[in-house]
Amino acid sequence: PRILLIGPPGAGKGTQSKNIVETYGVEHITTGDALRANKDMETEYGKPREFMDRGELVPDPVVNEIVVTALSEADEGFVLDGYPRNGSQAEFLDDHADLDLVALLEVSREELVDRLTGRRVCPECGTTYHVEFNPPETTGVCDECGSQLVQRDDDTEETVTERLSVYEENTAPLVEFYEERGLLRRVDGEGTPDEVWHDLRQAIESAL
Ligand code: AP5
Ligand code: ZN
Repeated sequence: PRILLIGPPGAGKGTQSKNIVETYGVEHITTGDALRANKDMETEYGKPREFMDRGELVPDPVVNEIVVTALSEADEGFVLDGYPRNGSQAEFLDDHADLDLVALLEVSREELVDRLTGRRVCPECGTTYHVEFNPPETTGVCDECGSQLVQRDDDTEETVTERLSVYEENTAPLVEFYEERGLLRRVDGEGTPDEVWHDLRQAIESAL
């Protein structure tokens, strides 16, 4: 399947992408992780890192390039997470891939702030935790690989506020874009990760 997961920062796109990859054996295409993996990257538009630390969007040509390359390697399908984030990226994607469905994870603003400020990530294997909602077995240590967990630089309250406004202004309008194409499935993103996965999986199955 070719799945697009859309939703605000902290909606659980990364968390649920993992389930999709395990279940369907597709590629996880995530511009956020790709940019973080390359944190000293320099481009003619500046350092992506600096846009990210301010909570702003990285210039389109940089992320479009990441996505084209990843799509060309995703023969068994993909789950796209964190892309597209504005109208121009959505048009670009339209020219390069067909989608089976677009799943929107819906979560209230208050919950998003709690999730993001409490998130901890493994710098080695990328697994995501939450200090309260999804803690590792040993505080501060990755269950999967034993590395010390860290907080993302853009998970401070100030940057989270900026990311949420950038989402409202640039990315939220894409919901209508995909609704008009008949691709959109709304999923309640507020339950436990397992509850959300149950609903998301049903939405995927019904669209395939
Ligand atoms: P990116 O890395 O894509 O971040 P994001 O979209 O802001 O999304 P997040 O990763 O913050 O949230 P998520 O929905 O994946 O939630 P998660 O599963 O981790 O982008 C970062 C930056 O890169 C951007 O600001 C921009 O600068 C740049 N960038 C990236 N793509 C770009 C693009 N296309 N164009 C331009 N710039 C781009 O969950 C969050 C927390 O909640 C975790 O702690 C998790 O454990 C917990 N949690 C998850 N599900 C639940 C649940 N059901 N109940 C309770 N807790 C839960
Ligand atoms: Zn790890």
